[in-house]
Amino acid sequence: MPGQRTTQVSDVRIETYTGPRRELRALFELAEDSPAELDGYLALGRVLVARLDGHVVGHLQVVPTERPGEAELKNMAVLPRLQGRGIGRALVASLVELLAAERVTTLLVATAAAGLDNLRFYQRCGFRMRSIERDAFTEATGYPPGVVIDGIELRDRVWFDRAIPARRPGPPSPGPDGAQGGGGQHEERGDGVGADA
Ligand SMILES: CC(C)(COP(=O)(O)OP(=O)(O)OC[C@H]1O[C@@H](n2cnc3c(N)ncnc32)[C@H](O)[C@@H]1OP(=O)(O)O)[C@@H](O)C(=O)NCCC(=O)NCCS
Repeated sequence: MPGQRTTQVSDVRIETYTGPRRELRALFELAEDSPAELDGYLALGRVLVARLDGHVVGHLQVVPTERPGEAELKNMAVLPRLQGRGIGRALVASLVELLAAERVTTLLVATAAAGLDNLRFYQRCGFRMRSIERDAFTEATGYPPGVVIDGIELRDRVWFDRAIPARRPGPPSPGPDGAQGGGGQHEERGDGVGADA
C-alpha cells in the first residue's frame, strides 16, 4: 500500500535495559514454557533490548556461569510480528561485541531439541552443538506435559557454544548503548517476510 513502510533491522536500536524486569516478562515467556524456571532467573544477569520507535520489540538476557571467561545467553525473544527480519541476529551480534570487550571467550546457549527453528537460528548465529541434556524439560522443573514443538515432544535440551573473538585493537566501536546493533551485518531475506510493524 502506498505510504506503508517495511520495518528494517536498521530501524532498531539495541541498548542495555535498566527498567523493571517484570515489564519484559511477556517477552521472556515467548522463550520459556516454565513459569517456575522463569521466576528463578528473570532478575538475573543483564538484558539487552531492541527498540523500535522507543518500544521494546526484542530482548536477550546474559548471565555469568561458574567458569571464568564464559557467559550464558539465558533467554531471548523477538515479538512474533517482527521475527525473521534480523532483529534476533542483531541482538546476538551486539552481545558478542559487548562480551568481547569484557574478555569473555565463550558464549553458551541451551534450547529444546524439539525447536527446529531455534536450532537453525543459533547455528546461523555461529553457535555449534556442544552436548545434549536428556529429559531436561520435565514436570518436576515446571514444564507442562505433552508439549509438542514441530511435531516433536519437548523433552531434551541441546547446549550450544560459540567462541567470542578477541576484540581487535582500534577505535572504539559503537556498543549496545547508543548505537544500532548489528544491522549493517544483516543479509536481507528475500522471501517477503517484511511487513509493517
Ligand atoms: C528465536 C528468535 C529470537 C530469532 O529472532 P528473529 O529476529 O526472528 O531471528 P532473525 O530474523 O535474526 O533470524 C536469523 C536467522 O535465523 C532464521 N530464523 C529465525 N527464526 C526462524 C524461524 N522461525 N524459522 C526458520 N528460521 C528462522 C532466520 O531465517 C535467519 O536465517 P537466515 O539468515 O538464513 O535468513 C525469534 O524467532 C523468537 O523470538 N522466537 C520465539 C522465542 C524463542 O523461541 N526464543 C529462543 C528460545 S531458546
